[in-house]
Amino acid sequence: MATEKLPRKVYEAELLHLQGELLKMQEWVRATGARIVVAFEGRDAAGKGGAIQRVSQYLNPRFCRIVALPAPTERQRTQWYFQRYIEHLPAAGEIVLLDRSWYNRAGVERVMGFCTDAEYRLFLRQAPVFEQLLVDEGIHLRKYWFSVSADEQARRFAERLENPLKQWKLSPMDLESMTRWDDYSKARDDMLVHTDTEHAPWWIVEAEQKRNARINMIHHLLSSVPWEPVERKVLTLPDRKSSGNYERPPR
Ligand code: ADP
Ligand code: AMP
Ligand code: MLT
Repeated sequence: MATEKLPRKVYEAELLHLQGELLKMQEWVRATGARIVVAFEGRDAAGKGGAIQRVSQYLNPRFCRIVALPAPTERQRTQWYFQRYIEHLPAAGEIVLLDRSWYNRAGVERVMGFCTDAEYRLFLRQAPVFEQLLVDEGIHLRKYWFSVSADEQARRFAERLENPLKQWKLSPMDLESMTRWDDYSKARDDMLVHTDTEHAPWWIVEAEQKRNARINMIHHLLSSVPWEPVERKVLTLPDRKSSGNYERPPR
């Protein structure tokens, strides 16, 4: 069933409201030393980047970081698979947004053959254990899967091809993913079977309509992290006249 697109005005007002709530959540994260990790996953052009942009738009980049790792280096390939993600995990008071994550191994790496069968199988066994460690550690972990149809993906790729501001988003990997739609579907299903756990469940974001997807995802994040408003110190501007004996401050 097709989801109706949110009218722009409604979307903009709701988004702004939610972004205000995210700011309050950030205050709580700072005040309590909480740590949050949000993993954004989904097919190419599913809208992960746009959602990450809206989540982080008004947050302080010092407290809310976006992590988008490139393909692993030769050296990283010899490390434990989760190792290179660990250094990006949050310290107290930080929110980390993962633009793709360790789930690359269950998606692109499996489908494109960038890992061996044994490595892939080991990943499916280790991911739930790794995530259990994070959760036991007190980290709030959320995993979102942005879901789009083949037609919508093709439409977005075409738009990227034409739009000079969006061309950079289109990679050879993306075009490859069009011709391997079914392989990616199988990979996603296997991923969900093995890694949708009680301690770290997957949340599926219906992403056929970008606006709805962003609103739903942010709303879910805000309602699932146990934050509460914290008192904010009220600041007032100092009276400049009383701070010096000059009439007009130098420019
Ligand atoms: P994105 O869609 O995130 O903008 P791409 O579509 O180019 O980027 O690549 C998708 C993912 O595949 C990226 O996370 C990238 O790191 C990963 N990737 C690309 N090449 C390799 C490789 N040789 N080995 C492992 N991962 C790779
Ligand atoms: P499974 O989830 O274990 O049933 O695996 C599903 C299918 O994916 C099997 O046919 C595997 O051979 C295949 N597969 C597993 N790992 C990889 C990989 N790294 N690259 C390509 N195909 C794989
Ligand atoms: C996006 O639309 O931002 C995508 O999900 C990123 C990509 O093309 O892989």
